[in-house]
Amino acid sequence: MAEGTLRERLAESSAQMRERMGERAPKVGVILGSGLGLLAEQIADALFIPFGEVPHMKRSTATGHVGRFVVGTLGGREVICMQGRLHGYEGNTAQEVAYPVWLMHELGVDTLITTNAAGAINAGYEVGDFCIMGDHINFTGRNPVAGTEPDEVAFRFFSMKDAYDPALRALAHEAADELGVRVQEGVYLGLLGPSFETPAEIRAFRTWGADTVAMSVCEEVIAARHVGMRVLGMSLVSNMACGVEGASPSDQEVFEVAKSREADFCRLVTAIVERL
Ligand code: HPA
Repeated sequence: MAEGTLRERLAESSAQMRERMGERAPKVGVILGSGLGLLAEQIADALFIPFGEVPHMKRSTATGHVGRFVVGTLGGREVICMQGRLHGYEGNTAQEVAYPVWLMHELGVDTLITTNAAGAINAGYEVGDFCIMGDHINFTGRNPVAGTEPDEVAFRFFSMKDAYDPALRALAHEAADELGVRVQEGVYLGLLGPSFETPAEIRAFRTWGADTVAMSVCEEVIAARHVGMRVLGMSLVSNMACGVEGASPSDQEVFEVAKSREADFCRLVTAIVERL
């Protein structure tokens, strides 16, 4: 349903959401990745807005992704949370994946925390670790800002230096240290998926300096930086990447590990939000 320009569609979606949100005006957005949806259940005074009820938003079809906005209070702050995200591998265009990020910005969000489950390329990482994204390699082959319409929303030739905000990364380390939760910081590599990588690809990505790999995040972060949002990216290492220590990742393993680390994930993200 791509009627009207991107700017017109965003105006229509945000007007409808604002009407439903009333006095709520969150400045913090959180995107919850595969198997990490529990945090949404911990949001107080929650208002639920399914993606399918927002004009121009695509529905989520991925396993373990509920596909709704949850607006409420977490760690003493007003937040808008995406319980589930849109992926390129579901058949969404880069712009469709980025749309809810632009929409949250339109609603007043200036800080985005995006999370996912990822495979570890770095053999020094352990399954169950958290990894703060220090930078990314966008290997999806796509960019949501391509085309003329994103340029009507904001200037499209922007820098991607420090895309993952250094101050937010420091704050995330502090929160993890205080909770006694093990965190790494590394370079995240994003792919279209949905097939997992080959061992040869993982070996190649290691030589590029990538520490983790998954099938989301990059397009969201590009969209967030396009409109000047501060970004924190956080992965849960759900598996070793294909070929690392003989690993052959599966969707089931990703979900099981995510579920087993969900409680610490919730504590960590809540502690980060408290410190914002
Ligand atoms: N590869 C790609 N995507 C993933 C992985 C992986 O190893 N783990 C979780 N998402």
